[in-house]
Amino acid sequence: MKILFYDTKSYDQESFDSALKSYEPIKHSDTPIEIEYIKSDLDPRTAALADGFDAVCAFVSSDIGTETVNILHDKGIRVILMRCAGFNNIDLNQCKKYGIRILRVPGYSPEAVAEHAMALALAANRRLHKAYNKVRENDFSLSGLMGFNFYQKTAGIVGTGKIGAAMCRICHGFGMKVIAYDVYKNEELKDFVEYKTLPEVLAQSDLLSLHCPLTNDTYHIVNLDTIKQMKDGVVLVNTSRGALVDTADLIEGIRMRKFAGVGLDVYEEETDNVFEDRSDEILEHSTTARLLSFPNVMITSHQGFFTGEALMAIAETTLQNALDFAAGKDSPNNVTA
Ligand code: NAI
Repeated sequence: MKILFYDTKSYDQESFDSALKSYEPIKHSDTPIEIEYIKSDLDPRTAALADGFDAVCAFVSSDIGTETVNILHDKGIRVILMRCAGFNNIDLNQCKKYGIRILRVPGYSPEAVAEHAMALALAANRRLHKAYNKVRENDFSLSGLMGFNFYQKTAGIVGTGKIGAAMCRICHGFGMKVIAYDVYKNEELKDFVEYKTLPEVLAQSDLLSLHCPLTNDTYHIVNLDTIKQMKDGVVLVNTSRGALVDTADLIEGIRMRKFAGVGLDVYEEETDNVFEDRSDEILEHSTTARLLSFPNVMITSHQGFFTGEALMAIAETTLQNALDFAAGKDSPNNVTA
């Protein structure tokens, strides 16, 4: 099976090449898998490069709308291997029409994201980003660095699926009382997590961490109204999707001194590539740049998933998806319209 791998980063190539050598089912398979890596992302301009391949491997950033799917179909592509969980960038109906299969990686390492959420919570609370810069400038004073103990405080987790559950376990390990809001209860957590309504979680949490997906119901779940319901001095963390938080309202909340700290791995402007063009004019109007001007805000660039273990898990699941497709097997990782 020949796979054209779009939007290749050096770490993608390393993990996939390594999995091609070490993943046992590949070693014992009769289906030879060959990957060609290219730097361009998949979109209507680059789809024709897939001529002569059986499959394409794409990412959540790829544009797999109607036009791209039409071209992939013309070029004989039979399967799209998504090396991520998300698939809202694909025209599923068009794929269905042509019988193009889509396989994804639903979960790779929930702990990777949950550990990063806790790292952001700790860093924002104890001002580690500020402390790091101060010490580098030979300023060893502690002014502006005071935080609070997480021990015996309340962690509120919104969304207790794979990542939220891992975050609950971490917070429990810190000696925190863990409360949660979800539309479904996760039975695995019943011994140490108490489910409450969203207003109760907002009102009682000292650390509030978002782990629900972005849907119509969760869009701007953090807004001025819900911010006002939160405890003064709360630490807010979002590693899920930027649009869960209304950025303008968050800025207002920070100005109201609602938050002890804010840690974001995702932000609303992420998909607009605001920081690719670093012109002053763009930065002046960027809400992310405004957020960064506050000393108690820590932002990372969607790196929650970025651990060696998670990358290997992504590579292995994607290759397993390719093998399952080649063997004509049904797969739980199948995406349908
Ligand atoms: P999951 O599907 O295992 O869990 C999501 C949970 O949210 C489920 O328990 C679901 O019932 C709950 N939920 C759905 N609607 C809700 C609502 N209206 N209110 C409260 N809870 C609701 O997903 P998983 O794997 O835990 O991922 C969570 C999110 O993390 C993803 O949607 C994704 O946006 C984000 N993510 C971030 C990464 C990063 O690198 N920062 C990497 C991977 C995922």
